[in-house]
Amino acid sequence: MRNILVIVGSGTNKGNTSQLADAFCKGATKAGHQVNKVFLGDKNLSGCQGYEGCKGKNHVCVIKDGMQDINTLFAEYDTVVLASPIYFWTITAKIKAFIERLYAIEVKDAYPHKDSILLMIAGDDNFWTFEQPISYYSFVTKAIAWKNIGMCLAGGCKSDLKNKIIDERFLHQAYELGASIKEDNHVRKFFLFKPYKALFR
Ligand SMILES: Cc1cc2nc3c(=O)[nH]c(=O)nc-3n(C[C@H](O)[C@H](O)[C@H](O)COP(=O)(O)O)c2cc1C
Repeated sequence: MRNILVIVGSGTNKGNTSQLADAFCKGATKAGHQVNKVFLGDKNLSGCQGYEGCKGKNHVCVIKDGMQDINTLFAEYDTVVLASPIYFWTITAKIKAFIERLYAIEVKDAYPHKDSILLMIAGDDNFWTFEQPISYYSFVTKAIAWKNIGMCLAGGCKSDLKNKIIDERFLHQAYELGASIKEDNHVRKFFLFKPYKALFR
């Protein structure tokens, strides 16, 4: 059994990203894993303030906000799922703030090992729509030595004041991704647009 932390970085907990994350959680739960979904909007996270205060404080971040709740249990998770809509061509500020705040737990240039998964939603559906966030996510996970074990990218999911519209096929993909996770590391599953496939196979 894995212990999976699903971080939702949308502006809303009732939107497309949350639905995609829920589908993933359902699949992962079905596969027997323990899943905890956290909506960053409830945590009021700020980005790193760059004091380096954490380095003299036993790797505890000096900023007092919802990151403390996440960090308390962080060591127990073996898998971290980042779920984000595209805002202005990349991940949201909330997800970026979460990543920056991991700085506190770095020890001698090393971060606690995790397997990681990226779930993303976008209004657009161009072949390049996910280019920036994929490039950033791939770079960061490599840099902190996390193993990227899966991705689900849902393009063409428009939303307006009244409607949040996500194509059912993406919910199936996210479910399947969750359900396919094994306790060991051998399954890697990617639901990608064609141009990205060569990068991850
Ligand atoms: C502030 C903001 C910026 C956005 N920027 C982009 C963008 O650059 N590219 C894109 O494809 N969609 C963009 N969108 C659309 C969202 O990615 C899309 O509607 C998504 O389904 C929203 O997910 P949510 O319901 O979880 O908020 C933007 C939406 C908002 C609110």
